Amino acid sequence: MMLAAHAAPAPPAAPFVGVAWYPEQWPESAWEKDLGLMEAAGIRMVRVGEFAWSSLEPQEGIYRFDWLERAISRAAAHHIATVLGTPTDAPPAWLTEKYPQTLRVDSNGKRAEHGSRRQFSYVSAKYRELCRRIVGRMAEQFGGNANVIGWQIGNEYTEDSYDEESRRRFHEWLQAKYKTLDELNRRWTTAYWSQTYTTWEQIPMETPRGNPGLLLDYRRFVTDMWREFQRNQLDAIRAHTKSQFAATNYGGLGWADRFDRYRVAADLDLISWDDYVGMGHLNAVRNGATHDLARGWKGKNFWVMEAQPGFVDWAQVSNSLDKGEVRDMAWQAVGHGADCYAFWQWRSALNGQEQYHGTLVGPDGDPVPLYAEVRQIGREFAKAASAIDGTEPTAEAAILHDYDSRWAIDFHPQTQRYDQVQVLLGYYEPLRNATQSVDIVSADAPLARYKLVMAPSLNVIGEPLAAHLLEYVRNGGHLMLGPRSGMKDADNSLQTSRQPGPLADALGGRVEQYYALLDEVPVRGEWGIGKATVWAEMLSPAAGGAQVVMSYGASNGWLDGRPAVLTRAVGKGRITYIGAVLDKVLMESALQWAAKNAGIRPVFGGVPDGLEVCRRAGKGREVFVLINYKNGEQSLRVPGGLENILDGGSQAESLRLPPRGVAVLERAAHSQ
Ligand code: GAL
Repeated sequence: MMLAAHAAPAPPAAPFVGVAWYPEQWPESAWEKDLGLMEAAGIRMVRVGEFAWSSLEPQEGIYRFDWLERAISRAAAHHIATVLGTPTDAPPAWLTEKYPQTLRVDSNGKRAEHGSRRQFSYVSAKYRELCRRIVGRMAEQFGGNANVIGWQIGNEYTEDSYDEESRRRFHEWLQAKYKTLDELNRRWTTAYWSQTYTTWEQIPMETPRGNPGLLLDYRRFVTDMWREFQRNQLDAIRAHTKSQFAATNYGGLGWADRFDRYRVAADLDLISWDDYVGMGHLNAVRNGATHDLARGWKGKNFWVMEAQPGFVDWAQVSNSLDKGEVRDMAWQAVGHGADCYAFWQWRSALNGQEQYHGTLVGPDGDPVPLYAEVRQIGREFAKAASAIDGTEPTAEAAILHDYDSRWAIDFHPQTQRYDQVQVLLGYYEPLRNATQSVDIVSADAPLARYKLVMAPSLNVIGEPLAAHLLEYVRNGGHLMLGPRSGMKDADNSLQTSRQPGPLADALGGRVEQYYALLDEVPVRGEWGIGKATVWAEMLSPAAGGAQVVMSYGASNGWLDGRPAVLTRAVGKGRITYIGAVLDKVLMESALQWAAKNAGIRPVFGGVPDGLEVCRRAGKGREVFVLINYKNGEQSLRVPGGLENILDGGSQAESLRLPPRGVAVLERAAHSQ
């Protein structure tokens, strides 16, 4: 395409396929074949440079950008746009040697060494200075390049550091927050175990079974440090770019919570994650939920920056996905709001730590068997782009996901069986079945657009959050709180009112006691008959307050006959409190009850198990992506006015999807 130098760079129409390409590992004579094969597969984007520091700055202050300039324009000649990675995830050997103070120290006090990647301390002022210098130079050089559509800062923010500089910054951070030690001591209740601090320097960093207030603040500190680390590069990029986007790649551990991903994403234009399965096969529910989580980080469409090209090299067994499974995954991502699906990586590096990882071409540069499937994805994406570009998933129901609560519970879980992600998925799956579209958003996100909001383990509820939730309910929203909600305040202190703390009055009921369960407890009521596992809370309605929806059967004596679920109409809306982890059958009917109460009706009625319907809308268009994950054929009824766009625009009342089949249906313009 070789865009004119003044043209504003814009990503290709969504959805499109991308790939991670490492031209610095190959002689330039190999590039043409690589790029030709990429173009033939419909690949429209390469991400380049994120580990190339030693090729970009081989010696301190000596820059070599000419090869990158050529790689970008050779890609453009094949209609392939470039995303530039800043190379700061892999500092070169000269840097480590000259500035050993930039090396990360782990929680056992061991300093990292050169030889892998990510050996830097994210807090180090010297490291940040060196990052800013190379990134600034790159932005100067490529900020006006019409073939560069955007930037990826670093690659997967992962390891924090326990070096002296980080410790000092932690103390400064605490001082800025609390101003006085008296205030900190009071809010952390440091009289407990004689932890009262008389100087800032006495305060430890994260320690096992540490003070809950300290532990929560430490994660907020880590969040702020990554945000600063990123801001440093962002400023250098934005000083030289106009319309190129700035993104980062959070990587494959979608549910990881070392830092607050909403806060770090807030400064960026775009966020991306990695869609790796590792060992086994696609778990469509969990993977779909992870896409929805990723969409929630910025509350808009996202990219999959790395996807599994068949298999990885780091799982216990790095088995291959089945034929057709990669295509299902690519379409699932698009259905959930990905605009780009990029594979890692294009071609096997001859040496280096990841030799066995899946690729699209082999070390010889010739296609591997999966290449044909990727070419099919490329063709289908291009066909569907005129319908899909500019649309996004929209949901009437949301699940709240909150890092403070994740941390607070995990620091002190009370039972190892309480897996918050599993609990969340226990809500997600039936909610998705009942509504066919779910947002997963941060607890302080705007909620007015949702008819139904679920908060599975919202442990930390400070006053502002309580006010936000109450406003949503009073204005007509239905809030369903799950177990462990409202136990802590924003300092991770126990509330002085019983759960759900500041929401107990509105609920007209409260938690009398919580129980970590060894054995299942029978539960019965309006939602049917089933069981509670893992966790159960004894609830009680206040006089004239909440109604009892479900009650416990005979179990430990304490819970026998006591309420397990309460609900109450509040203002124009409703609060429901579910005090236990309920089994699948009960959750299914709970969510049907809630969706019906909230007036949510999905466009497709019931769909068979193993078949997913995703909806994207916008620009006056409505598009459905249907995926059959089963190895057998499945059919479903199709509402009127939908055209099958992968199939040449056919319209039918029912649709048969072959094993692993995909259909994309667009609401025909005349039927709107
Ligand atoms: C990602 C990482 C890539 C590569 C890949 C292998 O997490 O960003 O650089 O290591 O894993 O699966």
